[in-house]
Amino acid sequence: MAIRLDVTNLVATADGRAGVPLATFQGAQARFAAAHAHLVQQRAAGILGFLDLPANEGLLAQVEQFAAEAKGKYKDVVVLGIGGSALGPIAVRTALKPSGWNAMMDDPRGGLPRLHVLDNVDPRTIAALLAALDLRTTLFIVTSKSGGTGETMAQFLVVQDRLKQATLPIDEHVVFVTDPAKGALRAIAARDKIPALDVPPNVGGRFSVLCPVGTLPAALVGVDVRAMLAGAADMAARCGTDDLAKNPAGAFAVLQWLADTTQGRHVHVLMPYRDALRDMAAWFVQLWAESLGKIQPGGASVGPTPIPALGATDQHSQVQLFMEGPQDKTVTFITTAGHETDVTIPAGYGDIEELGYLAGHTLGELLDVERVATAGALAKRGRPSMTLTLDTVDAWHVGALFMFFGIATVYGGHLYGVNPLDQPGVELGKQYTFARLGRAGYDAARAEFESLPKPDPRFAY
Ligand code: PA5
Repeated sequence: MAIRLDVTNLVATADGRAGVPLATFQGAQARFAAAHAHLVQQRAAGILGFLDLPANEGLLAQVEQFAAEAKGKYKDVVVLGIGGSALGPIAVRTALKPSGWNAMMDDPRGGLPRLHVLDNVDPRTIAALLAALDLRTTLFIVTSKSGGTGETMAQFLVVQDRLKQATLPIDEHVVFVTDPAKGALRAIAARDKIPALDVPPNVGGRFSVLCPVGTLPAALVGVDVRAMLAGAADMAARCGTDDLAKNPAGAFAVLQWLADTTQGRHVHVLMPYRDALRDMAAWFVQLWAESLGKIQPGGASVGPTPIPALGATDQHSQVQLFMEGPQDKTVTFITTAGHETDVTIPAGYGDIEELGYLAGHTLGELLDVERVATAGALAKRGRPSMTLTLDTVDAWHVGALFMFFGIATVYGGHLYGVNPLDQPGVELGKQYTFARLGRAGYDAARAEFESLPKPDPRFAY
């Protein structure tokens, strides 16, 4: 079991292949060693809790016990959360449950519940889901590390009111996933005896998928959570070296950083060629963007712009831009060594060229050939790429992938000279929102918002 990273197409050659020159890549060894040393030091200081999650038996026990007690009780599980509290569970569901899981009848789901993730406060979506659910057989997981995020609190208020109207006991239909000591959810849990699982204090939202934020919903729908954590542990061990030639997350982070800062390749595309990994790209986008798009202590704005794509679908969409648009991108493909399921393309219309050549090949083969062809075409046009190959999409490899990107992001923080664990840029919008909704203590923000330019009729069309 392994994940392999092939960076051939991101390393420039003397005969003209585009990418980061080998000497530059190798020359970054000392810079990378410093980034790795910083990670080791931060981990020892207890700052990088996500690295310790695979070995956290206590948290796993919380999850396994809750899942065992919940077995057979619920037909629907709904995660309420946003940002890191939602994108991880979505990525897990898409990767590790069959496509259309929620649309399946009970039987093929083996009696396991459907899994919905409400990652927004759009009333249309929430009203539609609540109208479709039978609350008597629904469990709501309210996930918020801080325990007070406005969107999640609003969702929770709606849900607890619906449960009250249906005279259903909240402690049997709601579980919190939140900080072990701090925040409004923890206080409500204590007051109303609502079960609550922990997000360790040193694990931030977008790094939290390997704790109950991701593992609880996963376990409830039958994912092998132990395997997920074992894959993550294996990746963390592989990345335990400061030798750039041996550390896959290090190579990924350093090449992306060099491509960005020395070649103007600011846009980092993540393009799985597997539907199951589509939402892994969305999860990565949050991780890379919210962690690395920052103002450095010296005042300079830095950070790559991540873009999600999907092969082969995006070959008929964004790939035109990747091939001929500005030379400002790297593309990272994700694939698997084989296909768990494959479908042979039957012969038919053999006399018609557009169809005849497909006969006897498989859909999996077509998808793989298209990826290799796209990587080749990009290389031919001087556009660098790299490829991550999983043996298969299973819990072990998905856990390893989460850990790979988490570690790469921490390296990225050091390389870009920013703190990858905070998100100060999202605060101002939050303050204006609180002010406009009348929250106490936000008078200054209200005044500041009022002083912003108003819509100008001259510019209204
Ligand atoms: O990565 C982060 O920290 C954020 O995106 C959070 O996940 C998001 O803001 C939700 O926060 P919380 O889990 O505290 O509700």
